[in-house]
Amino acid sequence: MSETRVIAIAGATGAQGGGLAQAILAHPEYGFTVRAITRNPDSPKAQALAAAGADVVACDLTDSQSVRQAFRGAYAAYCVTFFWEHFSPETELLQATNMANAAAAEGLSHVVWSTLEDSRKHVPLEDDRMPTLMGRYKVPHFDVKAEADAAFHEAGVPTTYLLTSFYWDNFLQLGMGPRKQEDGSRCLTFPLGDAKLPGIAASDIGQCAMSLLRDPGQWAGKRVGIAAEHLTVAEMASILGAVIGEPVLFRDVPPDVYRGFGFPGADDIGNMFQFNRDFSNVFCAARNVELSRTLYPGLQTLRDWAEAHREALL
Ligand SMILES: NC(=O)c1ccc[n+]([C@@H]2O[C@H](COP(=O)([O-])OP(=O)(O)OC[C@H]3O[C@@H](n4cnc5c(N)ncnc54)[C@H](OP(=O)(O)O)[C@@H]3O)[C@@H](O)[C@H]2O)c1
Repeated sequence: MSETRVIAIAGATGAQGGGLAQAILAHPEYGFTVRAITRNPDSPKAQALAAAGADVVACDLTDSQSVRQAFRGAYAAYCVTFFWEHFSPETELLQATNMANAAAAEGLSHVVWSTLEDSRKHVPLEDDRMPTLMGRYKVPHFDVKAEADAAFHEAGVPTTYLLTSFYWDNFLQLGMGPRKQEDGSRCLTFPLGDAKLPGIAASDIGQCAMSLLRDPGQWAGKRVGIAAEHLTVAEMASILGAVIGEPVLFRDVPPDVYRGFGFPGADDIGNMFQFNRDFSNVFCAARNVELSRTLYPGLQTLRDWAEAHREALL
């Protein structure tokens, strides 16, 4: 019998890592097994992973020793950090650095690091078209991930830098969906004008990551951007409307108005969408749909995803 190779997965109970765990568990023929990293092995999601055949391990990514233990003996790791848990770039950087150092110290053969662009390369801090946040960022949850790329590079571990896209799932989870207004109409509210935004089903990120892990010779050391489609918000509204059988309008708001919506992180997300809008060509060019489909031919378009989630969208 051939040997199986352990993939240690950060965020295995979450969207990105969960998608990868499911993809691997569904394909034992690829010779990978799942080591699911969680802070709480007793949670229902962790228990479900264990029941499906994953080795579930307790680990807090802020604790370097705990990460080393979780990576020990693994062949590769999927590394992702969780800005929206704590809103702290410092915590993201610490967790990414812990994972990079642990991967190197434990001799992992390959790491996929879920990163994002440094918006400051396009909108320097002195550029006042959007506010500087936390003293040194334009889009904190993007910029700090880009800063953390250096930790993987400096650790010397063979790394694939994976640029992900806007999750279709945000239409369900972050109050970004086609909500009914007081007048009964439905609309999507985004500060994106007619810019195209790359998007993907969150679970498909894991499917693409599995493909990257299967071919380190091709992907280690590379930056790879993935998206299922590049769509304007008007196009997204039209697709969602067709699926739910009610018109969905697009309400375009200026980024300043969006930043003022007041939900936690509205300033960061407002800056992110302004960056997405003003540099849409750069952002889309970094996420090649054709390449993404070669990684995972089953990528869900927004229509596919919406049809599968129609009830929840209503
Ligand atoms: N939403 C989007 O459109 C989008 C697009 C691109 C990139 N992103 C990025 O995606 C990242 C989040 O990934 P996700 O959506 O997969 O996250 P998620 O679904 O929120 O899952 C987070 C998981 O991380 C685990 N976790 C949190 N803190 C931990 C810690 N200290 N130690 C160990 N595990 C910890 C939690 O597991 P336990 O509770 O089981 O420990 C949780 O299940 C964010 O940083 C965001 O910037 C999001």
